[in-house]
Amino acid sequence: MSKKHTAIENWLWETLRPETSDSARQTYDNMAQQGNGQLPVIDQPLDLSCQAHFRDESQIQQIVAQLKDCREILDIGCGDGWPSLRLAPHVRSVTGIDASARRIDVTRANAERMKLTNVKFQQMTATELDFADGSFGAAVAASSFEQTEDPLRAMEQAYRVLRSGGRLFVLYESLDVRLARSTAEEVFLAEHPDGTLGWHYCLKHKSPAWERDYLVRFNTTPEIAAAFATARETIGRVGDNPFEIPEIGVQFLEANKNSIQGCSYYELEHFSAEAMIQSLEDAGFTDVRSVYSAGHIADKLFQELEPALLKDNQLAILAAAIGRLTLDLPAPLQHGQPVIATKP
Ligand SMILES: C[S@@+](CC[C@H](N)C(=O)[O-])C[C@H]1O[C@@H](n2cnc3c(N)ncnc32)[C@H](O)[C@@H]1O
Repeated sequence: MSKKHTAIENWLWETLRPETSDSARQTYDNMAQQGNGQLPVIDQPLDLSCQAHFRDESQIQQIVAQLKDCREILDIGCGDGWPSLRLAPHVRSVTGIDASARRIDVTRANAERMKLTNVKFQQMTATELDFADGSFGAAVAASSFEQTEDPLRAMEQAYRVLRSGGRLFVLYESLDVRLARSTAEEVFLAEHPDGTLGWHYCLKHKSPAWERDYLVRFNTTPEIAAAFATARETIGRVGDNPFEIPEIGVQFLEANKNSIQGCSYYELEHFSAEAMIQSLEDAGFTDVRSVYSAGHIADKLFQELEPALLKDNQLAILAAAIGRLTLDLPAPLQHGQPVIATKP
């Protein structure tokens, strides 16, 4: 690994020798719900007078405008069902795949609760899609290509399973937009389904954009449960940066070293807009271009509006208009905007 290690990483490598993992196993299999269990429509009734819901609806309308006339849509890295479950009422059928077994369980339960009958979900890696060539008319990958072990391979697989003329809609997490400083460190604590307690550490680097994620698993003893409760309280009170707050970082690990069960890590490369477009072209796609982010425009518009004065159906018309317009207007190349592509 050529990138410089932080003090915490030095401790982890000297003390625990982390084994290699991936985002699906290490992070997403250990997460109870995505979006803090507050995904509009999926977890909560749609309320367009709430900015987050208006943004979400505008994003969905943008994907619908791009893909609605395509038959069979594939959602790559569907998580808890975003966007599959939101697209389903607008399209003929959606198949969602995710490498995390837990996410597939959650999204199937969500689909059942929402009484959707034109969706199906399968545990599968995006880098080895178990579908015949040309199976889908369209595909969407929402913040998932960069989470895989080999994003270019995942793009090539998306290309393979699309029919000629099939369209791909890509959202990706841009660290350039999200990070204020050149690096960001964060600790979060989780109770895992296998009963272990997890200390998670995420290091993000802005330019070039990459992240490394570590998990230290602890045996659940009463002492460790108490140490986790104290650390959780500290994080809630003063923040999650272990560089600034050593008692949630190296001090926490050192004090509880004897209860550590194991440690794993994975590394992700994030995309710039240029790299995303280049990679999709390398995978064979044509007419690859950046479009305005409907979510971003919705946020801006919401701040200009008096949403309380507008009725739900008026807000719905606006969200649909944002979705359509953002596809028609040529957008400058900017980090974090959606990218659309076509299989020739
Ligand atoms: C940031 S989440 C996005 C989930 C969802 N699309 C959304 O926007 O809310 C990334 C998802 O990619 C999945 N993932 C990671 N590696 C994968 C792989 N190799 N193949 C398929 N899915 C993968 C994760 O399990 C996770 O559900």
